[in-house]
Amino acid sequence: MHAKRIAGEKATDFVESGMVVGLGTGTTVYWTIKRLGEMIKKDNFHIKVICTSIETEVLASKFGLDITSFGEVNSIDLTIDGADEINQNLHIIKGGGGALFREKIVASSSKFNITVVDESKSVSVLGKFPLPVEVLSFGWEVTSKKINDLGTVSVRREGLNGKPFITDNGNYILDCHFGEINDPRFLHKNLKMITGVIETGLFFDTTNIALIGNPSGSVKVI
Ligand code: 5RP
Repeated sequence: MHAKRIAGEKATDFVESGMVVGLGTGTTVYWTIKRLGEMIKKDNFHIKVICTSIETEVLASKFGLDITSFGEVNSIDLTIDGADEINQNLHIIKGGGGALFREKIVASSSKFNITVVDESKSVSVLGKFPLPVEVLSFGWEVTSKKINDLGTVSVRREGLNGKPFITDNGNYILDCHFGEINDPRFLHKNLKMITGVIETGLFFDTTNIALIGNPSGSVKVI
């Protein structure tokens, strides 16, 4: 079976009726959302969801989920989200889908976080996947130069239409190859000190467990 599907569906075992559930963005979480849509058809199973992107909101709505917001709930019980790279320390690169800022807000407000990936995302050292950094569009050229001073050549992400990719928050994404990222905290801190940087795709101290799907149908838990 599809490895992303295995992981995405397995995460729903952790969802209990009455929970507020944070929903990430991407093709792995798609399977989580779809399965949750089946689960709510059962009697006495009700959840509310907070979405990390417009794409996820559309999906959640399609599958009949009850969408809520931070204005209505104080905290999130459980968040399920994908990743672009994850290591044994549960350090993660996210943002391949451009939703990293909202994903980080939701993850950092959640009591428990599950990362769902297929095994191609599991790495010993982060950095092969270019680190997405969300920046304000105003003055992005100068922000990009300051980011480059940290040891990269940042590339502004393009959309499918050949125009700059715009996040749900109206910002740009710069994709940055830094080589091996051995100290994600240090890099994240340095990036965040640059005016114009809104958020980085480095996640640490957020994920509690990772479910890694394998095409054979098994799921590894770290
Ligand atoms: C979006 C993300 C996604 O979680 C990440 O890109 C993984 O996506 P997929 O599950 O489609 O491989 O960070 O901003």
